[in-house]
Order: sequence, then structure tokens, then C-alpha cells
Amino acid sequence: MNAKTVNIAIIGAGLMGREIAAAIQRWPALIDHPVRPRLTAVCDINPAALDWFDEIETVTTKVTDYHDLLADATIDVVYVAVRHDLHERIYSDVISAGKSLLAEKPFGIDESAALAILDAVNAHPESFVRCSSEMPFFPGAQLAINYVLSGALGTIVEARNSFLHASDVDVTKPIGWKRQNKYCGEAGVLNDLGLHTWHVPLRLGWAPETVYGVLQNIVTQRPGPDGALVDCDTWDNAVLYSWASHDGVRFPLTTETKRIDAGQKNTWVFEAIGLDGGVRFSTKNPKLVEIFTVVDVPGGGKEQVWQQIDVGSQSTWPTVTGHNFEFGFSDSILQMWAAFLAEREGKLGDRFSCVTPQEAVATHAIYLAGMKSSATGIACSPEDDLKQ
Ligand SMILES: NC(=O)c1ccc[n+]([C@@H]2O[C@H](COP(=O)([O-])OP(=O)(O)OC[C@H]3O[C@@H](n4cnc5c(N)ncnc54)[C@H](O)[C@@H]3O)[C@@H](O)[C@H]2O)c1
Repeated sequence: MNAKTVNIAIIGAGLMGREIAAAIQRWPALIDHPVRPRLTAVCDINPAALDWFDEIETVTTKVTDYHDLLADATIDVVYVAVRHDLHERIYSDVISAGKSLLAEKPFGIDESAALAILDAVNAHPESFVRCSSEMPFFPGAQLAINYVLSGALGTIVEARNSFLHASDVDVTKPIGWKRQNKYCGEAGVLNDLGLHTWHVPLRLGWAPETVYGVLQNIVTQRPGPDGALVDCDTWDNAVLYSWASHDGVRFPLTTETKRIDAGQKNTWVFEAIGLDGGVRFSTKNPKLVEIFTVVDVPGGGKEQVWQQIDVGSQSTWPTVTGHNFEFGFSDSILQMWAAFLAEREGKLGDRFSCVTPQEAVATHAIYLAGMKSSATGIACSPEDDLKQ
């Protein structure tokens, strides 16, 4: 197959910038993908952050001002992974330059920033824009999504999607930009982890009618750059109890985003239960998907059982990896990019796709409703917050 070359640039050479650069180097693992990405350029205001990219032979441009990348006609697609307060300006500039964009969540520091980015998207149809959310590309998550889409739940009872961390249990962990509202946004942990818990529910048509929010700021101070304690004003944990509908039936949908959930490391959990069936998957045990059903037990009559399935390595885009081998975080990043670049070429078909700008904007209305609800003790409607 003749794959089309697409030149990629990265703005923000931090944790995620390096992760994406590494994922692109594994591209030959994908079978018959229509695109061959080449990472050619990288930008960071910190020149030292650019050194790591010397490992990658295709990177020929390293700059400290992202405008230099936008003026480079050879660059087709830009991935941006920077602080949330910088999203609106940089995303809008990338889109206005006519480049395609894979943006990082939360797609703007707040709803008004997200809407401004959406305006740029609408004004520049030549720029293909999606937002990053990789966890649903785990094969177990894909199986769970397809199980729900098959109608196997019957009448829905309830569903849950969670994203759970625990490194903030350590109160000596220095503050950083993700723990300050002015850089992270007033939605705090919802801005950091919320999109991970809403990509699948929104894709399944579970936009919430109302949201009851329970938000906690547990660690209110952390060591600053000189070791002295400074304010840590972001929400640490946020649980949103929503009413959503599935096949015309209202059901409770719970989404949890926690920086302080003892023992968890980047755990993504999805569970949907109905009267006829149920499915649950957690990246804590990434091979395992559990299916609820009622079976005839030989000699024992009808019983309710949770059956266990080991899923293999295959996600939305086929790879050379042995089908029985295990899947991990870096694989989910590769699959997300496979979906993004295939959809950009119009060749994704009916495979699972990345978060759209409209879905990302919708999450901000949900977070606002959750924050309002937590402050007032009354359930709120995201519709009231979505200004367009
Ligand atoms: N999808 C995921 O799983 C995931 C995980 C972590 C973070 N994120 C998101 O990725 C984004 C970045 O997070 P991170 O953890 O990589 O942050 P980071 O702090 O590790 O890296 C950010 C980098 O941006 C650079 N930078 C700052 N201003 C810049 C500018 N004007 N131009 C160019 N570079 C600039 C910084 O020097 C730094 O190197 C955030 O939106 C975050 O929410 C996503």
C-alpha cells in the first residue's frame, strides 16, 4: 500500500510531547495504514526540552517560538501539549494557519476558551481538529463499547466511567502548574482528567440532562519552588452523578475523576449494567473484560454470572503485534493517532474515532454544571451552561 506522508510538528516538548514522538516511531507496527507520519519539527520555550528530540532522525527543525512552525509550509499536522491557559491562543493560531490539530484536553482552560477555539474550527474547515483521549482505545474498552452498542444490556440500570490517580496522596509533591487554577483552570481535576471519563459516555449518546457534583479540594497547600508552602487551589477529586438516557430509558451515570484515590495509577474504569447484560473493564487489569449474563448451570438451574474474557492486543487499527500479547498505555496513544490520521484522510470507516471539538466543548458545560451543583447542593443542567 502506498501510504501518504504527513509531516507532524509538536508544540510542547514535555511529558506528552515526548510520548507522542515515541509513539510515532512505532508506526510500522500498524498494518496498511493510509498515512505515514514523519515527525519533522518540535517547539518548546525551554531549549533544554528540545535536546531529547535529537534521538529522532526525522526531526530537522527545533524552535522556541511556535509561530516559526506555523509559517513552515511543509508542516501538515500539529500536536499541542502545553498548559491549559495557553490552549486558546495556540490552538486558535494553529487552526488559523490552516494546519490540522490534535489538541490536548481540556481543549481550553474553560468553556469560553473552548467556544473560541470552536469558532476558529468553524472558520477554518481546511483544518482537521480533534482532541486527545486515548484510554478508550484499549481493546477491553473497545469490547465494552461494542457490547453496549450491540444492545446486549437490555433495559439499562446504571453506568460508570472513572479515571483515578493517587500520586497526590503525597503532600510533599511540589505544586506544578496542574495544581494551580490560574494555569489548570477552575475545574481543576475535571480539566485534567474529565475528558477521559466523558469521551465514551458522550459517544454512546449519554449527554447528561442534569449533574449533581461532589467536588473536594483535599490538599490546600503544597511546596512551592523554594520549598515553602503555597496555595494549591485546584479541585483534587470530583464525582459527578448525572441522569442520562439510553434507548429512551433514564439511568444514573456516575463519572469520577480523582487525583487522590489510594493506590491508583492512571486507572480508567468503564461499567454498564442492564437487566439482560452487563460489561465492565478497568485498565488496572488490562486483559480482562467481564460480561454479566444469566446462564443455565448444568444440574444447577438458572444463575447470574460474571464471565471473564481475556482480550488480546488488537484495538481499532490492526497491528503486527501477536493477537494474544498484552496492550498498554503507549499502544493506546499509537491507536489514537492511527484513528486521528486515518479520519483526517477520510479512511477511518466506522472505527472508533477521537474526541470532536463539539464533544470537547460539551465537557466544559458538564464541568460548569458540576461545579455549580457542588457549590449550591442542587443538581444543574449542562444545557443551561452551553451558551451556543
Ligand atoms: N492525554 C493524556 O493522557 C495526557 C496526560 C498528561 C497531560 N495531558 C495534557 O497535555 C498537556 C500538556 O501536559 P504535559 O503533562 O505534557 O505538560 P508538561 O508541563 O510536561 O509539558 C508542557 C511543555 O510545554 C512547554 N511550553 C510552555 N509554554 C510553551 C509555549 N508557549 N510554546 C511551546 N512550548 C511551551 C513547557 O516548557 C513544557 O516543556 C495538557 O493539556 C495536559 O492536560 C494529557
